[in-house]
Amino acid sequence: MNKITNETINKAESEAVSGKKTILSGIQPTGVATLGSYLGALRNWAALADTYSCYYSIVDMHAITVRQVPAELRRLQYEQLAVLIACGIDPDKNVLFVQSHVPAHAQLAWVLNCYTMFGELSRMTQFKDKSSKNADNINAGLFSYPALQAADILLYRPDLVPVGADQKQHVELTRDIAVRFNGIYGDVFKLPEPYIPKVGAKIMDLQKPTSKMSKSEIDNGGCVLIMDKPEDIMRSFKRAVTDSETSVRYDAKNKPGVSNLMQIYSVCSGKDFGAIEKEFEGKGYGELKTRAGEAVIELFRPIREEAARLIGDRAYLQAVMKDGAKKASFTANKTLSKVYKKIGFIEL
Ligand code: TRP
Repeated sequence: MNKITNETINKAESEAVSGKKTILSGIQPTGVATLGSYLGALRNWAALADTYSCYYSIVDMHAITVRQVPAELRRLQYEQLAVLIACGIDPDKNVLFVQSHVPAHAQLAWVLNCYTMFGELSRMTQFKDKSSKNADNINAGLFSYPALQAADILLYRPDLVPVGADQKQHVELTRDIAVRFNGIYGDVFKLPEPYIPKVGAKIMDLQKPTSKMSKSEIDNGGCVLIMDKPEDIMRSFKRAVTDSETSVRYDAKNKPGVSNLMQIYSVCSGKDFGAIEKEFEGKGYGELKTRAGEAVIELFRPIREEAARLIGDRAYLQAVMKDGAKKASFTANKTLSKVYKKIGFIEL
């Protein structure tokens, strides 16, 4: 068992007393650091700590539902943590931790597996999606992935779960599992709400502007990452797919490529579409690509530099992980022991 310091307890208690609402999200070590996820989610998270008590978990246990190269998985977790901190998510104000460092996740996931139906899991679109993409490795973990996600969430009794729209179904299943469990054992779990960012800043793939920008797509140069080198970012923008017209005009349906570039430029520069159309009147797409690329490079520069510095400081990142695991365990173990009692496990 983790030893809990007085400081941990005091902090948890003062938060409970302050009545702050709680936020929890899980972040795939392989997935968050794209331009799309930064603009849609990450950049808003730093400010949440003022109003909410926030938990962010790097979900290494979810990551292994598809095959990973161990050294690469390890590297990505350090990188992910460094990027989160560099984005302003202060480890002193937020609980940042790695999922496998808090055994309660695995422990509660097993219990919840026994309260989750085969039929429910079969209907999850992410499962159908991922199993068609990994036809040679449709393992039980991939299937019961949402039960682990439900454990991630329910352990911390969050009010809100910030996720992309693709995760709404998993949060809804989490609620269904919680309702089922509470129906049998009384009021154990709190029902969380998904917190989905406004679609206003939906960022599309630069090569395939009709699909969402995502790192999990086969690498075609259409996805920009926070940690990409400036010259790589510029190359991706210069190669961005546009259309056969010449005018810079926002029309997401008929001009998805150009509209996506405008969207990106707009979010980075704060200019609206009207101003951008004016700015590029009589100018070609090449100019728009360069301008958008430069804006993204400047947006990411300080984050990338700070993240790189932190990645070089392994001892610091490990200390953050340790501290996060301790704080997260304190909350998680309270829920877990309540669950164990309810279902008839014997406490020693
Ligand atoms: N499944 C989520 C994704 O793919 C990641 C995740 C795991 C998560 N556990 C979570 C998100 C808990 C929110 C809450 O993005």
